[in-house]
Amino acid sequence: MRQKLAAGNWKMNGTSAALAELEALAKAHPNPTSEILICPPATLISRAVDTLAHSPIQIGGQDCHAAQSGAFTGDTSAEMLRDAGANHVILGHSERREAHGERNEDVRDKARTAMATDLVTIICVGESLAQREAANTLDIIAGQLAGSVPDLATGENLVIAYEPIWAIGTGLTPDVAQVGEVHDFIRSLLERRFGAGVGRSVRLLYGGSVKPANAQEIFSVTNVDGALVGGASLAAKDFSPIIDALDAA
Ligand code: PGA
Repeated sequence: MRQKLAAGNWKMNGTSAALAELEALAKAHPNPTSEILICPPATLISRAVDTLAHSPIQIGGQDCHAAQSGAFTGDTSAEMLRDAGANHVILGHSERREAHGERNEDVRDKARTAMATDLVTIICVGESLAQREAANTLDIIAGQLAGSVPDLATGENLVIAYEPIWAIGTGLTPDVAQVGEVHDFIRSLLERRFGAGVGRSVRLLYGGSVKPANAQEIFSVTNVDGALVGGASLAAKDFSPIIDALDAA
């Protein structure tokens, strides 16, 4: 059985005042059946870890460098995330692929380092609207998976987030058949590459405009093991019902 995962991606949002949201979340979910993860901005990681010292809620980073140290102004290494108390990292988010020119091989190199540093690595894949309209979705996903996921992936160190770019922050979501088609496809590719044991144990998250109102429907889809949530993870009052829906799924 795959452990369900509700992951929040705060992106470039949150200063110290946002720690109160973590306190509220911890209070609302003292014994969740799902794993809960928040990926705050790097500046808040160690304080978030302190805030959640008595909570099962985990903390992750939103990116890391492929190197562990060096002359890379402004970057954060996997080791630094671990040292700050994070145990997960999001890699290859479409915002980084688009705004920072990250290619599949860059994501793969980062993922290798993250996995070797004992960070559970959430690798994001997803098609643009133009790619979906041209019926290229599955080809795009296959290429991103093949190029971004390193060979050392296991069911423990890898999570895949399917995030259609056109659904992120837009309020649009694919219908359940579209979500199911891509998640089943990702599962089959992972099984083919890594064998049934590993392929079946990797968790697959859906991301893109997950809200309290649509969470239950999304979580009813086969091979959806949780969600990567942006906007609706910023406030405990929004993220909490999403966690409840996942716990109940
Ligand atoms: P959203 O973002 O939930 O705000 O659409 C999801 C994501 O980018 O991970």
